[in-house]
Amino acid sequence: MSSLKDNINPDKLPKHVAIIMDGNGRWAKQKGKHRIFGHKNGVTSVREAAEAAAELGISYLTLYAFSTENWSRPKTEVNALMSLLLQTIKDEVVTMNNNNIRLNAIGDLENLPPRNYKHLLKAIEQTSKNDRMTLTLALSYSSRWEILQAVRQIGEKVKNGSLRPEEIDQQVFEKHLTTNNIPDPELLIRTSGEYRISNFMLWQIAYSELYFSPKFWPDFRKEDLYEAILDYQCRERRFGKTSEQILKK
Ligand code: IPE
Ligand code: IPE
Ligand code: MG
Repeated sequence: MSSLKDNINPDKLPKHVAIIMDGNGRWAKQKGKHRIFGHKNGVTSVREAAEAAAELGISYLTLYAFSTENWSRPKTEVNALMSLLLQTIKDEVVTMNNNNIRLNAIGDLENLPPRNYKHLLKAIEQTSKNDRMTLTLALSYSSRWEILQAVRQIGEKVKNGSLRPEEIDQQVFEKHLTTNNIPDPELLIRTSGEYRISNFMLWQIAYSELYFSPKFWPDFRKEDLYEAILDYQCRERRFGKTSEQILKK
């Protein structure tokens, strides 16, 4: 029996897969446990997704781990998430180096607890020479925050005369986003059966294929990523053109 992985066409892989990792709390509740238990188990899924993506030859994997809006959760949950993040970053540097994975982060990182910020920058530095896959964590990230900080930077440049308003095009704008060195994701996955974007990469997903998995994040495994990619490979990406135009190529 051929496995899901064998059915993936290596010539039609997305370069960039982004995942909204959702459902940790509900997963834990279902088991009669505290939400934090769900977050802890979500780390296994992060490992699985990163390993599977790297093995397939995907160049960029982006994981939405903590949103700007998540700061409004109960303090105990926020603190537990920050501790877990710190521990995971510290623990995984060796594995990332063994697997030639470069760590990257996007978001309002300076808003993270100082210890997290420090260790995050250190891990990014320690993995900066790796070039098999870039693993980007979206932390204290929201797309509206990102777009506003881009607009502010552009406004400053116009004010000081280094940029003319008529020079502002898509490319110039994108340079001011935190994803400036990452291509747009071809595939966006959200777990837990929620059908929304929750302030994630609003600009970058303009033409992304969306895939919704009913599984809670702690249950997400390599096979689930394969399934999402197989689904993606069956789609016709038209970018506004007609199907005939696409097939003629
Ligand atoms: C995703 O799981 C993790 C974060 C947002 C930090 P949730 O914590 O949102 O879990 P649910 O959606 O409440 O089940
Ligand atoms: C989105 O999940 C953010 C992350 C996965 C980090 P949420 O659980 O915060 O989203 P909503 O509140 O259900 O939209
Ligand atoms: Mg959620």
